[in-house]
Amino acid sequence: MSQIIAVTAGKGGTGKSTTSANLAHALASMGKRTLVVELDFGLRCLDIMLGIRDKAKHDIGDYLEGTIDILSATTKVEFVDNLYLVCATKNPFMDINPEKVMGVCEEMREHFEFIIIDTAGVGSSVFSVIKAAELVLMVSTPDPVCVRDSAMLSDFLYVKNSTNQKLIINKVHSTFKDDNALYDLDEVMDTVGIPLLGVVPEDNTIRVCGAKGLPLPPNCDGAKAYKAIAKRLLGEDVPLTININ
Ligand SMILES: Nc1ncnc2c1ncn2[C@@H]1O[C@H](COP(=O)(O)OP(=O)(O)OP(=O)(O)O)[C@@H](O)[C@H]1O
Ligand SMILES: [Mg+2]
Repeated sequence: MSQIIAVTAGKGGTGKSTTSANLAHALASMGKRTLVVELDFGLRCLDIMLGIRDKAKHDIGDYLEGTIDILSATTKVEFVDNLYLVCATKNPFMDINPEKVMGVCEEMREHFEFIIIDTAGVGSSVFSVIKAAELVLMVSTPDPVCVRDSAMLSDFLYVKNSTNQKLIINKVHSTFKDDNALYDLDEVMDTVGIPLLGVVPEDNTIRVCGAKGLPLPPNCDGAKAYKAIAKRLLGEDVPLTININ
């Protein structure tokens, strides 16, 4: 059985693309055939994060225009087996046709065990795509503005029938409890109101590897966090990997 996962957030820059790339990498390293579909039309970044850059010959825009089939729009990630990407179109004015995008995902089910959709922005076409996913991952930082927006988006999606939602708290630094401006993990969970799937540390290695298109070194804190999240997705009971003072 394949699973379609929509990665979303109530705010920009919280780490949707970073989460999509690293969670996909963790799943692929565990032998799961994984596809990432980038829906950030006009603002692609996953080709950089996954070390593909100009090697992507086609993108989802070519498919939506009908010039190629969808398998031709996928590009293999070189640094790990089992991981493929469908790049976003470079055209910011292209409409996201939700039926066609979900058609892509449905067609891909026979080829991949996990299909991770990196969504962007809020709008009816993005909501339609999210609605069709089996699981929504809400990425929030501990910042109260981000948490409040995550809670609002989560409630909205719930009303629209996206009832299977899980929370990833991102950019948590080890001394964040001392920062009065931020919520602690319990406050984030209580405010957003959905089950926690994982906590990812603020880790400069994550930022640098994303910018350089390199896989995370397996022993860095970020890689451990994504591996734990991947295992939880596969049904394992794994403790949090982050130590908070
Ligand atoms: N856990 C982390 N530790 C350190 N840096 C991080 C972490 N997560 C994300 N970042 C950095 O934060 C920035 C924004 O991340 P990213 O592009 O993944 O966010 P996004 O939600 O996809 O943004 P957008 O709304 O623009 O699509 C990037 O520079 C990324 O490297
Ligand atoms: Mg993004």
